[in-house]
Amino acid sequence: MRGLPQVAEQDGSVAGNDDGLTRLEAEVARLRAELASAEARLAMAGASLPAGDEDKFHAIAESIDQMIWSTRPDGFHDYFNRRWYEYTGVPDGSTDGAEWNGMFHPEDQDRAWAVWRHSLETGEPYHIEYRLRHRSGAYRWVLGRAQPVRGPDGAIVRWYGTCTDIDDLKAADEARREQGRILETLNRTGQAVAAELDLHRLVQLVTDAGVELTGAQFGAFFYNVLNDAGESYMLYTLSGADRSQFERFGMPRATPVFHPTFVGEGSIRSDDIKEDPRYGQMEPHFGMPKGHLPVTSYLAVPVAGRSGEIIGGLFFGHPEPGRFTEVHERLMTGIAAQAAVGIDNARLYQAAQKELGERMRAEAELRRLNETLEQRVAEEIGRRSDAEEALRQAQKMETLGQLTGGVAHDFNNLLQIVTGNLDILQRNLPPDAVRLRRSADNAIRGAERATLLTQRLLAFSRRQPLTPRPVDLNKLVAGMSELLHRTLGETIEVETVLAPGLWQIEADSNQLENAILNLAVNARDAMPEGGRLTVETANTHLDRGYVAQNAEVLPGQYVAMCVSDTGSGMDAETVQRVFEPFFTTKDVGKGTGLGLSMVYGFVKQSGGHVKIYSEPGEGTTVKIYLPRLHGVFAEEAQADEAPVPEGTRDETILVCEDDDDVRAYSVEVLRELGYSPTWCCPAG
Ligand SMILES: Nc1ncnc2c1ncn2[C@@H]1O[C@H](COP(=O)(O)OP(=O)(O)OP(=O)(O)O)[C@@H](O)[C@H]1O
Ligand SMILES: [Mg+2]
Repeated sequence: MRGLPQVAEQDGSVAGNDDGLTRLEAEVARLRAELASAEARLAMAGASLPAGDEDKFHAIAESIDQMIWSTRPDGFHDYFNRRWYEYTGVPDGSTDGAEWNGMFHPEDQDRAWAVWRHSLETGEPYHIEYRLRHRSGAYRWVLGRAQPVRGPDGAIVRWYGTCTDIDDLKAADEARREQGRILETLNRTGQAVAAELDLHRLVQLVTDAGVELTGAQFGAFFYNVLNDAGESYMLYTLSGADRSQFERFGMPRATPVFHPTFVGEGSIRSDDIKEDPRYGQMEPHFGMPKGHLPVTSYLAVPVAGRSGEIIGGLFFGHPEPGRFTEVHERLMTGIAAQAAVGIDNARLYQAAQKELGERMRAEAELRRLNETLEQRVAEEIGRRSDAEEALRQAQKMETLGQLTGGVAHDFNNLLQIVTGNLDILQRNLPPDAVRLRRSADNAIRGAERATLLTQRLLAFSRRQPLTPRPVDLNKLVAGMSELLHRTLGETIEVETVLAPGLWQIEADSNQLENAILNLAVNARDAMPEGGRLTVETANTHLDRGYVAQNAEVLPGQYVAMCVSDTGSGMDAETVQRVFEPFFTTKDVGKGTGLGLSMVYGFVKQSGGHVKIYSEPGEGTTVKIYLPRLHGVFAEEAQADEAPVPEGTRDETILVCEDDDDVRAYSVEVLRELGYSPTWCCPAG
């Protein structure tokens, strides 16, 4: 970087602009012209000089502003003009012989000797650039030249030489070259930054350029990025150092040294950062952490985006002091500005790409939706009408249930009066009233059948008294195997497929058995020629999609039981009506049409759901879902039927019943059991 400050202009712009270059070139031209004229004058002097006329030569040589020397034919220096002694500041005669070589820079001495010796041996002109010790003590670049002068016989009689100070020329040349390098780097970086759309590559490029331009041992670019969620986090690139040398230190914190860069207060340049009052104030390290690359010279510039927000910072370090000049700082400020524009562009590009991608995705989705619109509308309409149908069906069943339930309830009360009074009548008939007893028996049988009927209707209308308990359905089904075989007969094969790890349910096991039996009987009736009945259990989950299509179902975990047969099946119209009470296709006396109504009522009352799948000739599947019971419960042992307690006369029971007949019957029964009942009629 020699001479670089000389080509930096006052305003800090690098002398890489046209003005600086023009001035440099003019200076070089001037020095060259000076050299040429001196050489011309010397040549003229030498040419007009008869051999051996030393005095004249010396007179001329002393008169020109050029270091001049001459030697004997063997190369022994025996003359240096005044200008030489003024320049070097050494005593007259002290460089005679071979001593002149000691005036050269130690690194140039051998080379100069070799060149001189070569000229002496060949008679070729001597020409060399080397560093000569100036009287100031500094070595300056000079151009040494010498020509031999030959006698009439062609033999060399003397060597005449000149020394021209070309130090400024050299410096200017070097500065120009450096200038070119800077320009080239700036250009290359600018172009690359403008073209680079990948953020990480871009900041790496900038970091590398920074290290190249400042001569730093290493550089880093810490920068903020936003992730897809819009959160900001910090990344960094390194140049001149390996990532492993930084990885254990984490990101720079807001220490007094780093803070100004990250808030964009301006750049920091220090010849020795450790001497800076802001350095070493923060715990826990109080300066660079142990093992950090040694930094003495320090340069940091903030990188601010177009809208003024600080994107990050460029940091450079060197173990030696005083490595970064004002020019470096200005160069880095320029690079930071380029980086900011590049980063802004890359971000914009990325955002645009993202937006474009999203738009394309949205368009593709829209196209797809459009293409399938009709089909989806048809599907949706289908789904809705199915759901509406299911709802209508459920509402119909609900209405039917309420109606039947109300009638059955009242009818049940009446039947209690009938059967109760018949019972009393029967018990109090004289033993010899045989005909009357038979009539009473018949009446009781009729009443019992009517009771069974009303119970079934109550079951359908979800009003039958239930005793739900934890049930292991697999065990219950397995326990019914014998009964099923007996009920279905020889021609029907019974198969059970019981899922392992079946969840528990909570249900009235008697009614559940009853329901299975009803289904089995229906299956038997549908398979007069024989066939197969399959009872299958499984854990299952009813999701929102299923629930939307089926009225009165809650989503969740269920235990499913499928009872399938290979029988006649049903048409769609029949399937629609099978749960209705009294709907039967069987001959009079063969079926009441209440079997499936009971199953329906029972399942609904147990919080479950029942569904029928059937097609003519394809058999039938009835699927019952009962809600999973969470937790583990031991099945309770069935409580034994408690014996009917005997009352005593001093035990009084108050009977409250608004139906006169029922009340009268209840009072009568209690009296028969030995109690002293009283009664009342509740208001309303
Ligand atoms: N597995 C089945 N295969 C074919 N049809 C069936 C099946 N189960 C029920 N059905 C039809 O549904 C109707 C109603 O059945 P449900 O069990 O409610 O009454 P039922 O069997 O006719 O009489 P009940 O059960 O009262 O003796 C039956 O008459 C029959 O037409
Ligand atoms: Mg039936």
